[in-house]
Amino acid sequence: MIQQSPPLLRVEKVSHAYTGGPETVPALAPVTFHVADGEFVCIVGISGSGKSTLLRIIGSLLRPSTGQVWLDGALSTQPHPEIGFVFQKTNLMPWRTALENVLLPLELLGPIGPAQRSQALSLLELVGLADFADAYPAQLSGGMAQRLVLARALVRHPRLLLLDEPFGALDALTRERLNLELLRIQTAQKQTVVMVTHSINEAVFLADRVLVLGEQPGRILARIAVDLPRPRSLAVMGGEKFGAIATEIRRHIGLVEG
Ligand SMILES: Nc1ncnc2c1ncn2[C@@H]1O[C@H](COP(=O)(O)OP(=O)(O)OP(=O)(O)O)[C@@H](O)[C@H]1O
Ligand SMILES: [Mg+2]
Repeated sequence: MIQQSPPLLRVEKVSHAYTGGPETVPALAPVTFHVADGEFVCIVGISGSGKSTLLRIIGSLLRPSTGQVWLDGALSTQPHPEIGFVFQKTNLMPWRTALENVLLPLELLGPIGPAQRSQALSLLELVGLADFADAYPAQLSGGMAQRLVLARALVRHPRLLLLDEPFGALDALTRERLNLELLRIQTAQKQTVVMVTHSINEAVFLADRVLVLGEQPGRILARIAVDLPRPRSLAVMGGEKFGAIATEIRRHIGLVEG
């Protein structure tokens, strides 16, 4: 019998209302889901359905109005190194080289020596930037900059990687390439990932499971298992099963009749 390990991430009845402004904005209705160790979960939903709010709460960048987030059995209330974050906008330091940007999270832990340097270099290699260690962010293309952010998010070996539209600003071809790289990295590191995306095809291509968030306040409309075999190549997108899963997601979002 296969032993079921406890989930790495538990999101329990998490809701959120923004209260700072003149009106209270209910952004997220109570949402509950679990993510297994090594699982890749994508969150899709229309604009304003609370996806970023949910991700920020999981990363403890925002406190939920109700509910809790548990990571590896412990209540999570503060941002910590066990969680890596990549946002849509790259927040690289322009005056630091690629290597120095990747080293940044390690500098918070202590002095940088040869061990840290070689770790950062091997991550640059992992994301295909080995030849750009000494380049500055302004010298990198959009896709390269986003890969650099990914390397920086991985440098402290996070148990959980949170991605909020990481490739949203990139052209379709670059995006496909980075999706392939992301899958390769995720498989190599057995990385647990929760990723927000606007692209249903991207979600089906990458995920083990897709959560569909519905309108304000966001709640989970559907949980869809993507039982396409791995490793996946781009050819999988042409398959019948892929199409059927994507259509089911569109139906839940209300993009197709039925
Ligand atoms: N700081 C804030 N103050 C007040 N309301 C906010 C704030 N941030 C988000 N909201 C509101 O909360 C709701 C959910 O926002 P959120 O950014 O989580 O949606 P989203 O699903 O990520 O949207 P998008 O796909 O456009 O990124 C929206 O109605 C938004 O206007
Ligand atoms: Mg968002």
